Amino acid sequence: MQGTRLEMTDHPSTDAQRWESYWSEVTREKIRVVWDAPADEGVAFDWPNIEAHADRSRPIVHLGCGHGRQTAFFGDHFPRVVGVDLSPTAIERARAHSAHPRVEYRVLDAVDPDAIAALHEELGDVNVYVRGVMHQLADELQGPFLAAALRLIGASGTLSVLELRRGAEQIFFPLVKLGLLPFLRPVLDNGIVPRGITPKRLRALLDPETHEVVSSVPTVLVRIALVGSRGFKVPAWHMSIRARSA
Ligand SMILES: C[S@@+](CC[C@H](N)C(=O)[O-])C[C@H]1O[C@@H](n2cnc3c(N)ncnc32)[C@H](O)[C@@H]1O
Repeated sequence: MQGTRLEMTDHPSTDAQRWESYWSEVTREKIRVVWDAPADEGVAFDWPNIEAHADRSRPIVHLGCGHGRQTAFFGDHFPRVVGVDLSPTAIERARAHSAHPRVEYRVLDAVDPDAIAALHEELGDVNVYVRGVMHQLADELQGPFLAAALRLIGASGTLSVLELRRGAEQIFFPLVKLGLLPFLRPVLDNGIVPRGITPKRLRALLDPETHEVVSSVPTVLVRIALVGSRGFKVPAWHMSIRARSA
């Protein structure tokens, strides 16, 4: 279907259904993934922020890894990398196109505490990377998602979060209406809402008795291509978090 259907109401009703529906549509219709970028224009740009605090002798889990375009990069920097995502289609694409000898991909819901506990039991304390997941979670899921990431880092890993800055999402909607950002249409049509999230909100979700923010810096997420131009960089922020006892 052509055009933008921002008013559509018959979205799939759970995040798992919405994301699987999104990934199936863009894969079937060969539509560009809107936040996609080669790793050297994506995670490599963020690497100095990650490297400064991660323990490189431990594995890293990329929580919400999508189709794995950024995940494989970690294979050159960590002994073991596990990319997990809600969507089976995204994981299939990651296995097919973002393979690396030290990287594996699994379907997993980060807000399933049993699945997270089992992953922690298997890997021990790990580093965790989150890139562009929390800004589209409903408010009531942000706490459970963060709790999952903190469970995985345990006492000695580091959580690295790169998220769309609050307000950045306002740039998108006029561009979609003007037809300059057609790749965002399947995101919105499937009921996924880029809301943005503030560093203040993430800090508010943390218990300062147990965890500390070891760095927080403004950055950009990725250059998003527009029809007929070179595109623009999306304002974002990066935060590193560790357990206080570490
Ligand atoms: C905007 S994409 C970012 C993908 C990847 N981090 C990247 O930067 O290329 C967000 C991803 O998070 C996944 N996701 C959303 N909620 C999740 C959850 N509860 N558990 C695991 N993955 C989730 C979605 O399926 C989607 O692939």
